[in-house]
Amino acid sequence: MGFSPWLVFLISVLVQTSAILADTDPRDSSALTAIADNWKNKPSNWNGNDPCRDKWVGIICTGNRVTSVRLSSFGLSGTLSGDIQSLSELVYLDLSYNKDLGGPLPAIIGSLSNLQNLILVGCTFSGEIPKELGQLSNLIFLSLNSNKFSGSIPATLGNLSKLYWFDLADNKLTGELPIFDGTNLGLDNLTNTKHFHFGINQLSGPIPSQIFSSYMKLIHVLLDNNNFSGSIPPTLGLLSTLEVLRFDNNPQLNGQVPSNINNLTKLAELHLENSQLTGPLPDLTGMSALSFVDMSNNSFNASDVPSWFTTLPSLTSLFLENLKIGGQLPQALFSLPAVQTLRLRGNRFNGTLTIGSDFSTQLQLIDLRDNQISSITVGGSQYSNTLILVGNPICVPGSNDKYCVAPGQSNPTAPPYSTARNCSALPTPCLSNQLLSPSCICAVPYRGTLFFRSPSFSDLTSPTTFVTLEQDMETKFQKLNVPVGSIAIHDPFFDSNNNLQMSLELFPSGKVQFSEQDISDVGFMLSNQTYKPPSTFGPYYFIGQQYSFTNDLAVPSQSKKTNRLPLIVGASAGGAVLAVAVIAIAIFISRRKRTPKRTEDRSQSFVSWDMKSTSASTAPQLRGARTFSFDELRKITNNFSEANDIGNGGYGKVYRGTLPSGQLVAVKRSQQGSLQGSLEFRTEIELLSRVHHRNVVSLVGFCLDQDEQILVYEYVPNGTLKESLTGKSGVRLDWRRRLRVVLGAAKGVAYLHELADPPIVHRDIKSSNVLLDERLNAKVSDFGLSKPLGEDGRGQVTTQVKGTMGYLDPEYYMTQQLTGKSDVYSFGVLMLEVATARKPLERGRYIVREVKAAVDRSKDLYGLHELLDPALGAALAGLEQYVDLALRCVEEAGADRPSMGEVVGEIERMVKMAGGPGPDSASESMSYASRTPRHPYGGDSPFDYSGGGMPSTRVEPK
Ligand SMILES: *[C@@H]1O[C@H](CO)[C@@H](O)[C@H](O)[C@H]1NC(C)=O
Ligand SMILES: *[C@@H]1O[C@H](CO)[C@@H](O)[C@H](O)[C@H]1NC(C)=O
Ligand SMILES: *[C@@H]1O[C@H](CO)[C@@H](O)[C@H](O)[C@H]1NC(C)=O
Ligand SMILES: *[C@@H]1O[C@H](CO)[C@@H](O)[C@H](O)[C@H]1NC(C)=O
Repeated sequence: MGFSPWLVFLISVLVQTSAILADTDPRDSSALTAIADNWKNKPSNWNGNDPCRDKWVGIICTGNRVTSVRLSSFGLSGTLSGDIQSLSELVYLDLSYNKDLGGPLPAIIGSLSNLQNLILVGCTFSGEIPKELGQLSNLIFLSLNSNKFSGSIPATLGNLSKLYWFDLADNKLTGELPIFDGTNLGLDNLTNTKHFHFGINQLSGPIPSQIFSSYMKLIHVLLDNNNFSGSIPPTLGLLSTLEVLRFDNNPQLNGQVPSNINNLTKLAELHLENSQLTGPLPDLTGMSALSFVDMSNNSFNASDVPSWFTTLPSLTSLFLENLKIGGQLPQALFSLPAVQTLRLRGNRFNGTLTIGSDFSTQLQLIDLRDNQISSITVGGSQYSNTLILVGNPICVPGSNDKYCVAPGQSNPTAPPYSTARNCSALPTPCLSNQLLSPSCICAVPYRGTLFFRSPSFSDLTSPTTFVTLEQDMETKFQKLNVPVGSIAIHDPFFDSNNNLQMSLELFPSGKVQFSEQDISDVGFMLSNQTYKPPSTFGPYYFIGQQYSFTNDLAVPSQSKKTNRLPLIVGASAGGAVLAVAVIAIAIFISRRKRTPKRTEDRSQSFVSWDMKSTSASTAPQLRGARTFSFDELRKITNNFSEANDIGNGGYGKVYRGTLPSGQLVAVKRSQQGSLQGSLEFRTEIELLSRVHHRNVVSLVGFCLDQDEQILVYEYVPNGTLKESLTGKSGVRLDWRRRLRVVLGAAKGVAYLHELADPPIVHRDIKSSNVLLDERLNAKVSDFGLSKPLGEDGRGQVTTQVKGTMGYLDPEYYMTQQLTGKSDVYSFGVLMLEVATARKPLERGRYIVREVKAAVDRSKDLYGLHELLDPALGAALAGLEQYVDLALRCVEEAGADRPSMGEVVGEIERMVKMAGGPGPDSASESMSYASRTPRHPYGGDSPFDYSGGGMPSTRVEPK
C-alpha cells in the first residue's frame, strides 16, 4: 500500500512543527538545566532539553510545565540556584536528604506563588531563612529541619495562612518567636497550622502568650532543646486540640506551670523536663489521654505524692526524677493498666514499697534510686523485671538483694532490637553494597535514620513494638504503590534530645536495586509525611542516606517516547493545518491498526483471528482468560505509574498491578502505535489461553480497548532466569537449584510439544523467557513467536525464520523447516548458559562452540572448570551427564537431538543424583557477583548474518 502524496506532505508538516514545539516550556527546561549545572550527582537521565517528554527522574509535569521536583537522597552537592524562580508553576519542591546541598536559600524562591510543599530536610542550607518565603501564599508544608539555618524566624512567615506543617527543628535559629505587633503578622496568625516543630535550636526570649489561643488548631507544639526563658503562658490551656507538648530542655524556663494545663484533655505526651519550673507539681487530674509524662529535673516545690498519680488510665511512662517528692508510693500506681516505666529516682519516697500482685503486665522498670524506702512487700506473683532501690535505707551496706545492686548502665532496659532474618544457612555473603533483607534476598536497601519525637511508650524491650512498625510500613508502602518489599529496623534508643532514634532499611520488592525514580518517590513519602506511622509513635522525621545507584541497573530508559499526539494537539491551538494533519494521521493509524491481517504477517500466524470470520475453528478460544477494560487496568497499575514499572520488554513495558481480589498480576502494555506487536499479541492471547501448566506462565486476561494491546499475566516475582544468572535479581542459584529450574523449564516446553492441543513450537526459548516464581519454580513465557505444528502434532511447517540470535537452530535457519527440535536446540543452548552464566553469543564467541571445543571426557568435570560459573559452588553431581545432554540437544541435525520428553527424563535423574531440595523448598536467596569471562571465546559466530538473507531476529531488551 502506498502513501498518498498529501499525506506525506502532512506528515512532514507535522514532523517539522513538532520539532519546533518542544514538549517542555523552555523556561522550565533551561531553569532545570541551570539548576543542575550547580550540582554534582544529578539524576542520570537529566540530558537534553525536554524534561517533561523525556521523563526526567524526579520531575513531574502538568501539561508542558514542571510542577514537581523531588530529588531526595540523590547525593546532590552544591547550591540551589536562583534559576528556580523560572519554574513558576512549581507546586512541590523536595530536595531532602542531600547532606552536601547547602549554602543560602535563594530569596527568589518567594516568587514561586504556586508552591505548596517546600521540603529541604537534612541538607546543609545556611544563612537566614529568607523573609520572602512569607510571600508563598499557597504554602501548606514547610520543612526546613535539620539544616544549618541561623538568624531568627522571619515574622513574614505569619502570612502563610494555609500552612499546615511547619518544621524548623534542628537548626541554629536564634531570637524570639515573632508574633503580631499591630502591623506585621506573626506565628499567632497561623491559625491553620497543626504542627509547630521548632525544637533543637537556640531560640530565646519568653514564649509569647499570644501564640496559644483558641483560634489555633495546633496538635504538636515542640519547643524543646532551646533557650526560652520566662514562664509557660497561661493561654496554654486554650489549645484544646493539643496532643503533644514539648518544652523540655530549656534551661532558663521558669515559673509555675499554668494550673489549667489539665484542660488539655487530648494531650498524650507532656515533656517539661530539665528546666527550672517552680511551684507545686502540676495537677494532671482528668488528662485521660496522657501516656508519657516527663517533668524531671525541675525546681518544683513538691511535697507529697500527688493524687493524680493513680488516675491516669493511659499512662505508660512516668519520669519524675530529682523532684524531692515525699510520702509513700501508692500501690495502685503499679497496677495502672498500661504502665511500663517508672523513673522516680532522687525523691523522698518513704515507708514500705508495696508492688502488690496485680501490677501491670507491661511493667518493665521501676527506678527508685536515692529515695527513703525502708522496706518492701511484693505480692503473690512476684514482680521480676527491673527494680532499683540502690541508695535507699533498705539497701544496707553488704546487702546482696538484687534491687540493691546498681545496674551497670544508666539505661538498664533496652537490649537493641534488630529485625530477625531466619534464612537458612547461606554459603556466601551478599555483595558489598547489598544487605540481606528480612525476606532473605540480597539487595541494596534505602537506608536512613528514623526519629520519633515523642512516642507514647518508653519500653524498648518489647520486640512487638518494632515488628508492628515494620509491618505497618510494609503494608502502607505497598498501598502507596512504591516497590518497597520488606523493612528492617534496628538499634532503637532514646537520644540525648529525647528523640527515639532507630536505623531503617527499606528493601526493594522484586528487584535488587531501587531505581532513581523509586528513591525520588520513597524519599518524598517520608519527607512530606505521606507515610503515617501508628499513632503511638507520634510525630517523626527521617534522614535518608544517599542511595548508591549502580549504573547498569538503575538508569531508566531515556529514549522512551510518550505518545506525543495529545501533547502536540494541546500545544497547537493556533495551528489549524496541524490539527487537520493530526486527525488525518490518527485516522490513518487507527485504520492500519484495525487491518493488520492484510500484511504478509498473516500467513505466518496460526491464529486466524479475523473478527469477521464466523468459523468456529478460527475464532479465538479464550478459556480462562478474561477481558479487561483499559480503565480497569489503569486503576490496578495506578495509572501505569513508574513505581509499578517492573520491566521493559521487546514491544513495551510491564507493570505490576493488584486485582481487586488481591491477586498480583503483571500487565504487559505494548507501545502505543506499535503495529509490529499486534500479531504477536493475538498469537499470545490465543495460545496462552489454551495452555495450562505449572511450568508455563498463565494468562489472566487481556485488553483491546482504545487501541491498546495489553496482556495480563500471573505475577512471577523472582524475575527471569537470565537476571538470576547475571546476579541482577538477587536470587542465588546453586547447582541443585539450577537443575530444578532447568527441569521445570524442560517440563514446560515438553508440555507444549507433547501435550498441548495442537502441539506448539515456542520458537523463542531463552533464559530471559524463563521466569522464576517465589519458590524458584520455572515458568516458560513469551509466546509471541510461537506456532502450532501440523494437525497430527508431529509435522513441520515452513516459515520465515524467527528467533533470537545465539539460540537459533542452524538447521531451521538453513531449511526454514520448523519442528519441535528447533526448541530442543535452543534449550540445549540455554542449558549451557545455565552452567556457565555466559551469554550464548557475546562478542562473537559462541557458547556451543566454546563448550564443544573445551570438553575433555577424560578429565574431571570434563575439564570445563574454566568455563563453569564459579557461583555454582563445589557440589556438581551429575554435571558431566548434564553437559552430555546439552551437547546432544545442540547436535547439527534435528534428528540426532533428543525430544523434550527425553530431556525431562534425563534431567529428573540428574536432580535425584544431585540430591536436590524437594520440589517446594522455599527460596532462600543470595546474590553473587556477576562476572566477566576469564577466558575470551575463540572463533567466530557460527552464523554469518551479514549480507542478504538476514533472518528476522529479536533484539534482546537491554
Ligand atoms: C493576627 O493575630 C492577632 C492575634 O494574635 C489578631 O489580633 C490579628 O487580628 C491577626 N491578624 C490577622 C490579619 O489575622
Ligand atoms: C478549657 O478548654 C475549653 C475548650 O475545650 C475552653 O473553652 C476553656 O476556656 C478552657 N479553660 C481554661 C481555663 O483555659
Ligand atoms: C514519709 O514522708 C512524709 C512526708 O514527706 C511524712 O509525713 C511521713 O511521716 C513519712 N513516713 C515515714 C514512715 O517516714
Ligand atoms: C504529600 O504530598 C501529596 C502530594 O503528592 C499530598 O497529597 C499529601 O497531602 C502530602 N502529605 C502531607 C502530609 O502534606
